[in-house]
Amino acid sequence: MKFFIDTANLKEINSAVEMGVLDGVTTNPSLAAKETASYNELLQDICKVVPGPVSAEVLATDTEGMLSEARELVKIADNIVVKIPTTLEGLRAVKALTSEGISVNSTLVFSASQALLVAKAGASFVSPFVGRLDDISTEGMQLIGDIVTIYNNYGYRTEVLAASLRHPMHVVQSALLGADVATMPYKVIAQLIKHPLTDIGLEKFLEDYKKKMQ
Ligand code: G3P
Repeated sequence: MKFFIDTANLKEINSAVEMGVLDGVTTNPSLAAKETASYNELLQDICKVVPGPVSAEVLATDTEGMLSEARELVKIADNIVVKIPTTLEGLRAVKALTSEGISVNSTLVFSASQALLVAKAGASFVSPFVGRLDDISTEGMQLIGDIVTIYNNYGYRTEVLAASLRHPMHVVQSALLGADVATMPYKVIAQLIKHPLTDIGLEKFLEDYKKKMQ
């Protein structure tokens, strides 16, 4: 399973790189708005430290606007993947961009039918938002399972990128269901390694050894 970090914050990205488990980055306009640098500057800096896919989202909502923004975004670095919202206008943009060889991450996906369409249009990644479905009393994880099954049924090569993951069990469940990628905030990556029994066990080992040495 690939691990992406869901942030535009360079400090968090660098810390995740140091952990040695980071395969890529996902950003969105809300995440970029939390930082002081411009979105373009942020993306340039991120691409310098992360060689894997870095998702950069368009702001336009019409097909032509999405296409021209996407063509500019890919000039930033070779590893930029353009994030396109999953609307009818977005679907047209996915088809056009993939025909030009531009890699697309179809974002804001909340249904299996949307996922089926973007795979047919050639998206490299599909981003179902698990946490936001949970927020409206819907089983977000069910969508991950449905998309994995559909893509396997037909051999679609679009990678399932589980997004809007809010806690470690979201990551574990996505892995059990066969999602190709999990993107998560820095806090969740750090939570994944924590176990109280590991800390207690370590403390005990060191205590016992110290006693013997006295
Ligand atoms: O990966 C998508 C993510 O940025 C949305 O997360 O927690 O705002 O639903 P959240």
